[in-house]
Amino acid sequence: MSREPDTTRTHAPDALTAAAARVEPVPGADRLQALQSFNARLVCMTIDEASYDEVVRGVGKVIGCDACALFLHDAATDELELKAASGYDGIRTGRRIPVADQASAHAQAFREEYLVHSGNQHAEPGMNVLSDEHAAVLILPVISNNGPVGVFEFASRSEGAFSPQDIGLCSMAVDQMAYSLENMRLVGELSRSRDAVIRGMALLAEIRDPHIGGHLNRICEYSGHLARLLAGRMGYHQVTREFVDAIARSAALHDVGKVGVPDSILLKPGKLTAAEYDVMKTHTVTGAELLRGLMQTFGEYTLISMGAEVAFCHHEWWDGTGYPRGLAGREIPLAARIVAIADVYDALTSRRIYKQAWSQHDTMQALREKAGIQFDPDLVEVFLSRPDELNAIRERFPG
Ligand code: C2E
Ligand code: SIN
Ligand code: SIN
Ligand code: FE
Repeated sequence: MSREPDTTRTHAPDALTAAAARVEPVPGADRLQALQSFNARLVCMTIDEASYDEVVRGVGKVIGCDACALFLHDAATDELELKAASGYDGIRTGRRIPVADQASAHAQAFREEYLVHSGNQHAEPGMNVLSDEHAAVLILPVISNNGPVGVFEFASRSEGAFSPQDIGLCSMAVDQMAYSLENMRLVGELSRSRDAVIRGMALLAEIRDPHIGGHLNRICEYSGHLARLLAGRMGYHQVTREFVDAIARSAALHDVGKVGVPDSILLKPGKLTAAEYDVMKTHTVTGAELLRGLMQTFGEYTLISMGAEVAFCHHEWWDGTGYPRGLAGREIPLAARIVAIADVYDALTSRRIYKQAWSQHDTMQALREKAGIQFDPDLVEVFLSRPDELNAIRERFPG
């Protein structure tokens, strides 16, 4: 059993970012397509044992390995239980491995919260892997917000099948799966499947974007905050409690369309060329199309239809010079005018791969200068009326 450099650990958000930086841009459309169909499957999932099969098959397809399997921790017995396996001959789910088992590579990965990798397990007896038919085996811990919840095995008949790049990609897929599993657990507890799944989808769509950290949470908070301040004001009768709730969640979907933007553009450290910027702009249309597709599954559901509106219109400008359609003034849906301000406030106060973070003072000045040009001037005034609360949100969701 060999240990890999620490950068391939799967759980810390900064390790995720490090892994993302290590994965070479994937030029082909294949992976993106696989990711998108995986995405679509996750989104349609409900909580039951069959979901684990879906997740495992989805991860296997994205990665393109011969076999993969998911074990989840049973806290009552302190054992790992095989929940789903794909690509193995005659393996039954339900198989259990005590976490204390010193001879099990799965138990080791779980205990140490660290990957176990062998390029050829036949040469390293004692791995106790699921099947002898595979040479290369990679076992990654599955780690949720609350700590390790299981392990995931990737296996391949080819020796040395998992390059460092592949391991980075596997780590990302497993991290993403951990989010989804966490969401599914929430779904079970709260019976709010659609909200949780939508959130999982927003996260999944941003898998390659290193600023995912607190960004989604802050966008939701800033948007909800502005909407709450609008409620009850003259001219904003549309801003009901339901509207506030909906925008505070659907704002997370504003950039889902970035899933269709190639790494070479999304992760470019410098300024975009005009041609690259044109590609980047398609994230609005892509996002709206993705979400409208979802409406066919879920029906006219406020969160998703508002999400589609926000994705489509959050880069429109008040003066009509934005994209994709050049809408002006109140032609731009209110939800999108709100998210536009939240998005740019957060983008400016954050470090991006292409820019440094700005101070709150400079950011507020920039928003004021663009009031009536880029942004709805009334909304800018209301948004900036409580700068301390904006700071409090940033402090609650750092990163
Ligand atoms: P993002 O980084 O989330 O930025 C969202 C929006 O915040 C931008 O929309 C823009 O309105 C505003 N913004 C961000 N940084 C600045 C800034 O330094 N100055 C000003 N005045 N506004 C800023 P926009 O321009 O439509 O860009 C959409 C997305 O395109 C960005 O999302 C980012 O992912 C990408 N992007 C834009 N410009 C560049 C660039 O020069 N290099 C790279 N690598 N990506 C870029
Ligand atoms: C993709 O581009 O298909 C996502 C995988 C990645 O680049 O990390
Ligand atoms: C509020 O305006 O209700 C406060 C915003 C927040 O902290 O979420
Ligand atoms: Fe955007």
